[in-house]
Amino acid sequence: MAMVKDFIDSNDFTKEQILAIEDLAIAMKKAIKQNGYYPHLLRNKSLGMIFQQVSTRTRLSFETAMTDLGGHAQFYGPGTIQLGGHESLGDTARVMGSLLDIMMARVNRHKDVQGLAEGSAVAVINGMSEYNHPTQEIGDLLTMLENVPEGKRIEDCTLAFIGDATQVCVSLMFICSKIGMHFVQFGPKGHQITDGGLQVENKVDLLAIGEANCKESGGTIVISDDIECIKGADFVYTDVWYGLYDAEEGGESYMDVFYPKYQVNMDLMNYAGPNSKFMHCLPATRGEEVTDEVMDDSERSLCWDEAENRKHSIRALLATFGKRTPLNDEGVDYSSKEELHAALAHIEALQA
Ligand code: CP
Repeated sequence: MAMVKDFIDSNDFTKEQILAIEDLAIAMKKAIKQNGYYPHLLRNKSLGMIFQQVSTRTRLSFETAMTDLGGHAQFYGPGTIQLGGHESLGDTARVMGSLLDIMMARVNRHKDVQGLAEGSAVAVINGMSEYNHPTQEIGDLLTMLENVPEGKRIEDCTLAFIGDATQVCVSLMFICSKIGMHFVQFGPKGHQITDGGLQVENKVDLLAIGEANCKESGGTIVISDDIECIKGADFVYTDVWYGLYDAEEGGESYMDVFYPKYQVNMDLMNYAGPNSKFMHCLPATRGEEVTDEVMDDSERSLCWDEAENRKHSIRALLATFGKRTPLNDEGVDYSSKEELHAALAHIEALQA
């Protein structure tokens, strides 16, 4: 299966394609961080960044990654460009596709990022919608690959997501099931993946997608409000209880729903296991879904590396989906040179 043009949903890709993007991320991370060699794979190219919602990590990662690759990023904040108002979404996408070399969009409605991709001649990357957060998935998989416990393979690992079925939770179910990992959601009834996630339009059976992935990969999915389900988890992950796309319903206070049972504190971490690592997509609301003690535990908290890995992984997504310029590293000596050339060759073969 040839790689599709846009990165909107990780379910559009095979396990091999996803892991090839990770290999490229790892090779470029080594080249830049260890050797100071910046592979200008998008020299003189322009990225258009549409943000209908606020962002720190995603915006900074795309912008700096584009600079690292020798290109330039343009930021369009809320209300600064037409997006399905007076001008149709298709017309905007067509024009942007003729002016830019690659686009990304963080949108209010998933169908808008799909519409941009359909109408644009250049690749569009989904920077988060109410449905999913696929660039977070690629960054988080990189963090997990770097922290696979000794003697295990990534496919042997369990990620336990604690709390609300946010789009990050749904996305983690997608990527874990794609790779063949074991995914657990420990969350209250009414806020579980099986309750429909955040997607309000074109409701889809989220669990059915994950289960179809598992059938192919050998992964498993467990959803429960019994804490027993997190025992033995290698990665304990949480997200805010009240996020960008949430609306409190019917007077229900999110604190009453989630606190204290679903707070990630040291007792919960120890219940998962003595070696379980903590992950969070950030931003975090300290004292609500996670305690200071867990977030700042230098032995167990991966959330800071995870934030940095957004950039390393987004660099690989831009180099994969953007209009690449040839790697010009003749006569340059860096330790991951062979690895980087092999990773790029693999991507090219998958795109052929
Ligand atoms: N994790 C994440 O997407 O962070 P931002 O909302 O700050 O981009």
